[in-house]
Amino acid sequence: MNYRDLREFVEVLEGENKLKHISAPVDREWEIACIARWVLECFGEGEQFALQFDQVRGYEIPVIVGLYSCRDFYARALGIDSSEILNHWSTALRNPLKPRIVTTAPVQEVVATGGHVDLSSLPVPVWTPGRDGGPYIPSAGIITRDPESGVQNMGVYRVQVQDAQQAGLFFGTEMQHGAIHYAKYCKQNKPMPVAIVIGGPPSLNFAAAAKTAYGQDELEIAGALAGFEIEVVAGETVDLLIPAAAEIVIEGLVWPEKRFSEGPFGEGLGYMNFAAPAPVVEVSAICRRRDAIFHGYVQQLGPSEGHVIWEMGLLGPLWFYLKDKLKLGALTDLAVLRGSAGLGMLAVQVKLGHTAEARELGKVLSQINFGQKTILLVDDDIDIHDLETIQWALSSRVDWEHDIEVVKDMQTYQLDPAILAALQRQHHAANKPPYTSCMTIIDATLKCDTPEVSLPGRSHMAKAFERWQEYGLPELKKRQRLERLLEKHSDEGIQFNLAK
Ligand SMILES: Cc1cc2nc3c(=O)[nH]c(=O)nc-3n(C[C@H](O)[C@H](O)[C@H](O)COP(=O)(O)O)c2cc1C
Repeated sequence: MNYRDLREFVEVLEGENKLKHISAPVDREWEIACIARWVLECFGEGEQFALQFDQVRGYEIPVIVGLYSCRDFYARALGIDSSEILNHWSTALRNPLKPRIVTTAPVQEVVATGGHVDLSSLPVPVWTPGRDGGPYIPSAGIITRDPESGVQNMGVYRVQVQDAQQAGLFFGTEMQHGAIHYAKYCKQNKPMPVAIVIGGPPSLNFAAAAKTAYGQDELEIAGALAGFEIEVVAGETVDLLIPAAAEIVIEGLVWPEKRFSEGPFGEGLGYMNFAAPAPVVEVSAICRRRDAIFHGYVQQLGPSEGHVIWEMGLLGPLWFYLKDKLKLGALTDLAVLRGSAGLGMLAVQVKLGHTAEARELGKVLSQINFGQKTILLVDDDIDIHDLETIQWALSSRVDWEHDIEVVKDMQTYQLDPAILAALQRQHHAANKPPYTSCMTIIDATLKCDTPEVSLPGRSHMAKAFERWQEYGLPELKKRQRLERLLEKHSDEGIQFNLAK
């Protein structure tokens, strides 16, 4: 199923009781974030559900969060199984699909321009109540255009509502593609048009968060991920093409040199970031559907929807690069370890017995540095989405003297407590990114012939599974971790033969 807008996907989740409506009136300034936090913390993998706040006090527009809060929801939003996500990304990156221009758009059913523009008409939540500098739009795809090539870009950069007609725009690094565009406009001393896109086909959210090559329009990737051309319409007040099926679009101009204090904001790394000067969007139009839904992400201390989207936006293009471009055939899976702030710990699964290639992969990945602090190499009998199994591999397959490589002085834009401590030790101030950090490569692959895993033989396990109904026990949902381990298991009780 390819979802043409946010509400088509919402309907499906709703039909499966995976989206709960809250009809009690809630306050956007603290309550939405707190309810979402309780749900995120207390319902684990497999139990998750999205939340729709139908009555936000003072607003007609409902707020929805948690639509893509696990790999399963993410995959289903693309109409695929979660085991297919990385290959689906590769196929999309190989075959971008140009958007199709249309002349009317649901997102332009209600248009406010000039003096009618009022950002406070939108139910923008405060995500870290008592700490954030104000309400934030954390989930929007920010569309800008390269003033030289004319090619559009769409990236997720947070937007802080400052007043009725102004909003702060945060670029994490000068290398963000929107920031590169802005630098070009500043050089030409011209304002940069922007469109802040909230809600839409799920693939829009996923493409906006992805690190694709500079000059690649993410709307084309969104189309390829969705399997249909994204319909776009001319902006009402800016020369940009805007997704017609979005829920809300805020248009505006970002002037060179104009700066406001942005932040503090509770970041995905799991800590508050401080306030600092940032570019400002002067809003020229707010366009929306008549019955618009405000789609937000919880994005603070992980795991959360923001983390899932971020992780996949890193892993999809990375997988494409490693498999399609570098042809690293021993690679079998990639994952960011759950709980590692969307990027901290990268798990790399390789074919059993390919230790040399695994180490090569570790080196390549340490050069493609996107802020990860640990690269963990494991064999393909380890389910890298299962933290218990990862702990087992770490506990039993690593010689902590020989299997660890520390790569020093890697650049990162994150300012985590470890980097802060290092800066303090060196008596340096935490001025601005890039910061430097160490990265560790841990080789947890098997490096010699090894006794078999202590599980019953594969055929005995299969027989018990076949007879399951006769035992009168609750239905079994197979666990990937066990499937993987048994796959490499023999019935004869022999050793893994690693001699190649
Ligand atoms: C929920 C979420 C929030 C994000 N917030 C920001 C942000 O505020 N600023 C930023 O520079 N990047 C942010 N990112 C990361 C960028 O979206 C990501 O690096 C993306 O590749 C940027 O697009 P670009 O490559 O076209 O610049 C965020 C990602 C996610 C998933």
